[in-house]
Amino acid sequence: MKIKLITVALLTALGTTVTVAADNDIAALVEQYIASGFKQGEKQHTERIVQDETQKQCTTYRNKIPSEMQKAFMERERATIKYPESGKLSGNWEQGQKTFTDGFAWRVGTIMPDKPDAVRGGNCYACHAADPKEVAAGNIGSTLTGYGKLRGNTPETIKYTYEKIYNSNTYMPCSSMPRLGHNGVLTPEQIADIVAFLVDPESPVNK
Ligand code: HEC
Repeated sequence: MKIKLITVALLTALGTTVTVAADNDIAALVEQYIASGFKQGEKQHTERIVQDETQKQCTTYRNKIPSEMQKAFMERERATIKYPESGKLSGNWEQGQKTFTDGFAWRVGTIMPDKPDAVRGGNCYACHAADPKEVAAGNIGSTLTGYGKLRGNTPETIKYTYEKIYNSNTYMPCSSMPRLGHNGVLTPEQIADIVAFLVDPESPVNK
């Protein structure tokens, strides 16, 4: 019995050492494969896969940032937010609807490579429902149907919604929602139009 227990302990100890070493090797190998997979595209594609401090932390902590680190994390994200020059955080809902729906959010590859000055969409329907008439809606994110009806279009709701879209990690560390303003997918004005699409009583989201 005693011998058996020792053997198990020894194997477990050995197993742990071996696993850690293999993990490191695998991580390096994964990085190598990912990097080589993006070589054919424009230079920006290889730049895009380099992790910033936030992404590194999310990888290290497997998307669960320790509670004592969360405040600094979210403050760092908030500091990236830029606002429209007009100061208006809610713009034109009809334009916002187009941008929300446009699926060309951030193209990689060689067929239709994204250009730095391209006008991009948000591809929000990939993850969210919004206008109830849109049938091709994803459900990775919560439904946004009735968003303004539920929350009103108060300055607080507008500010929160703008900041959430600009940099989702400001409110939730390691969110699976892209940081659309921070990453330069959408301009501040485009985000303000999307905010209007979500909060305006005239928008189909709230009908
Ligand atoms: C890859 C999936 C994904 C995409 C694309 C995406 N989101 Fe999200 N979104 C999420 C997830 C997941 C959450 C919930 C977690 C969180 O709060 O970060 C969320 C949360 C939100 C919230 C907060 C909802 C609440 O109840 O407070 C808003 C607003 C929002 N998204 C708007 C948008 C808009 C607008 C776009 C397009 C510009 C968009 N999202 C694109 C995944 C996505």
